[in-house]
Amino acid sequence: MSSAQQQTPVSTAGPITDITSLRSDFPILDQMVHGKPLVYLDSAASAQQPQAVIDAMVAHEQHDHANIHRGVHELSHRSTDAFEAARERVRAFINARNCNEIIFTRGTTESINLVAATLGRTQLEPGDEVLITHMEHHSNIVPWQLICAQTGAKLVPAPITGRGEVDADAFAQLLNERTKIVAIAHVSNALGTINPVKEMTAQARAANAVVLIDGAQATPHLKVDVRDLDCDFYAFSGHKMYGPTGVGVLYGKEALLDSMPPYQGGGEMILTVTFDKSTYAELPHKFEAGTPNITGVIGLGAAIDYLAGIDLDARCRYETELLSYATEALRTLPDMRIVGEAEQKSGVISFLLGKIHAHDLGTILDRDGIAVRTGHHCAMPVMDRYGIPATARASFGLYNNHDDVDRLIAGLRRALELFS
Ligand code: ALA
Repeated sequence: MSSAQQQTPVSTAGPITDITSLRSDFPILDQMVHGKPLVYLDSAASAQQPQAVIDAMVAHEQHDHANIHRGVHELSHRSTDAFEAARERVRAFINARNCNEIIFTRGTTESINLVAATLGRTQLEPGDEVLITHMEHHSNIVPWQLICAQTGAKLVPAPITGRGEVDADAFAQLLNERTKIVAIAHVSNALGTINPVKEMTAQARAANAVVLIDGAQATPHLKVDVRDLDCDFYAFSGHKMYGPTGVGVLYGKEALLDSMPPYQGGGEMILTVTFDKSTYAELPHKFEAGTPNITGVIGLGAAIDYLAGIDLDARCRYETELLSYATEALRTLPDMRIVGEAEQKSGVISFLLGKIHAHDLGTILDRDGIAVRTGHHCAMPVMDRYGIPATARASFGLYNNHDDVDRLIAGLRRALELFS
């Protein structure tokens, strides 16, 4: 049996509602770090993978590995089938209309660069504007800066409030007839803010702008329906949502993708090649030059299967409760400053503790076996906005629990003692 067939989910019991039972699916969590049981609170940087994802990739490598779309032999057929089956899983996961709208990339960063380098390069003119927000990850800033520099367009960041929400009035005012592209995070990786992307998309589309949503931090936590959002593009990564690194997705509306020039040239993306000219393959292959990360795509498909096996409402309730438990617990610490206190948040708490530098906090916590991220979180403008160089950030996955939060609080108390 091929691994493509093996990974097809067969569920008779209905979706899992007991989220606490899921922790044991993640083998990496069962280890000691510096003599203490690991507490992993860095899922916004990279979430851990369940055994089912690891197994799907190993099975593919062991039984079916071959290049896709190129061979007449059995292994190539199996590999192609598994790859395209994963595309269908992605399509269903975000409710895209068809598989031509699902482009596999290396990750969110490449997905955004693809749009900037194709649509941006050919559509933007001097005086045009690309509207982003002040809370974007560098991957939703720098690609636009590069294209603005080439085309003479201008990058315009919408301001954010002290609580870490997009200033809705300012966003509306900044939208104008020069705005050609609006690129916004669904969930901020530095602040945890969930942006009202459906409303923002409607406003942008009313202004005739093309809308791209950076969904890297949203797909692990929220239900995403690209048809309901009515965005033109939606970008996300495998490794933030319990899949492997090096694979991601660009969703794009088919007519728009069709109208765009190719991103990279090479094998797979062509129909015919002569020295005079080349013609290009149909979607989605037009944007998939070269041999892709086949095993990664299969792992991403398995991660989607894994998430599909869990009751979404139960998962959302669990994660929301854990986030408020952690927020309240952190607030009991003296000199705690939480950076990002939006009404709607998901998965992330950025904070500072007294005058202790975030990197020192991270190092002290690491000695206790607790993994958090420290630094600017690839969002330097967010740090500038709040006049700080860095934060410590605890970010949560569906394997975290109250014990993890309690260990974090104990570690932070220890840091306070050390620095007192
Ligand atoms: N963007 C990733 C993070 O927020 C790396 O940590």
